[in-house]
Amino acid sequence: MLVTRQPVLRRFWYALFPVTDLDDGPKPFTLLGEHIVVWKKSDGSPAAARDRCCHRTARLSKGWVEGDHIVCGYHGWQYDCSGACVKIPQLGTEHKIPAGARITAYHCQARYGYVWVALDDPLRDIPDFPEDGQPGYRRIFQLYETWRSTPMRLMENSFDNSHFSFVHKGTFGDLDNPLPSTYDIEETDYGFEARQSVSILNPPQAHDVTGSTEARVTRHMVNRYYLPFCRRMGVSYDSGIDHMVYNCATPIDDERMVLVQWLYRNDTEQDCSTQKLIDWDTRVTREDKDILEATDHDVCMDTRRKEEFHMPSDKPGLIIRKQILALLAEHGEQEVFRSALPPIVAAPARHTQEA
Ligand code: FES
Ligand SMILES: [Fe+2]
Repeated sequence: MLVTRQPVLRRFWYALFPVTDLDDGPKPFTLLGEHIVVWKKSDGSPAAARDRCCHRTARLSKGWVEGDHIVCGYHGWQYDCSGACVKIPQLGTEHKIPAGARITAYHCQARYGYVWVALDDPLRDIPDFPEDGQPGYRRIFQLYETWRSTPMRLMENSFDNSHFSFVHKGTFGDLDNPLPSTYDIEETDYGFEARQSVSILNPPQAHDVTGSTEARVTRHMVNRYYLPFCRRMGVSYDSGIDHMVYNCATPIDDERMVLVQWLYRNDTEQDCSTQKLIDWDTRVTREDKDILEATDHDVCMDTRRKEEFHMPSDKPGLIIRKQILALLAEHGEQEVFRSALPPIVAAPARHTQEA
């Protein structure tokens, strides 16, 4: 599936970057192949629009903010958050702003400290992170990095228990125990919930993370998949520590994504420092990054094409495929993949004249 070719994916919210990134001016972002500009209005809320001035196409992200408006850095045209051009400094009062002088505005809001954007009318709300703002829980922005991979690969990997022994043999995976534990899966209106308990190695470096000094600990997990590209890994340890990870895989284009990761913990900075939690999960996630960047970004969603083969532990990834294919069908789309694209027509050969 080539994500930029599936218009329905434009109808979901995606996390772009922390709201505080807008403190020093407008920022560019590429979402599903679309160049957008995000800026902060005078009340602190974010706004987003196409990053292309309708005068001479300059990137508005090179400009600045005045009040609630984004100002183009080339000739100073100003746009409001609906995309309407509201000021052309070169026009005297007798001239009106040309009808239709506007740019496309996008749905934009702040949630969980992040800027979220939907390119077209959203089909559903931003996923609920119930720990956010709950007494006793701290929120940690853990990861923000660009991966040369696609959100679908991250989603299937997130529910794939059969890779731990191999990909994570350097951290918590146990190479001698490759048999994966199975999930108890319940499909929901937002995607699915997958529960399981899994025994993992607990090396000394992880003792503060798990709250235990035992050689092995059990992760009791209530994980969730939110269509299309968000997930929760909700881990509770017997020590009483909750380690709730939320990921948003934000598609930049067909080959790249931004991995955003929040963590909620019900312990304190003295129990386990923010830096330690970032370092530990970064180490684990880098192991995933390394292998996912070595997979094909054009994920075969329709299993009937038999481009990929499956095993029983791939069940969550197959449910994700089924749900996304149903979403496409509901909106009159078919999966678009590389070999289904029309061939590139070669330009006619040019004959060079001999001197
Ligand atoms: S290109 Fe933006 S004002 Fe001229
Ligand atoms: Fe992993």
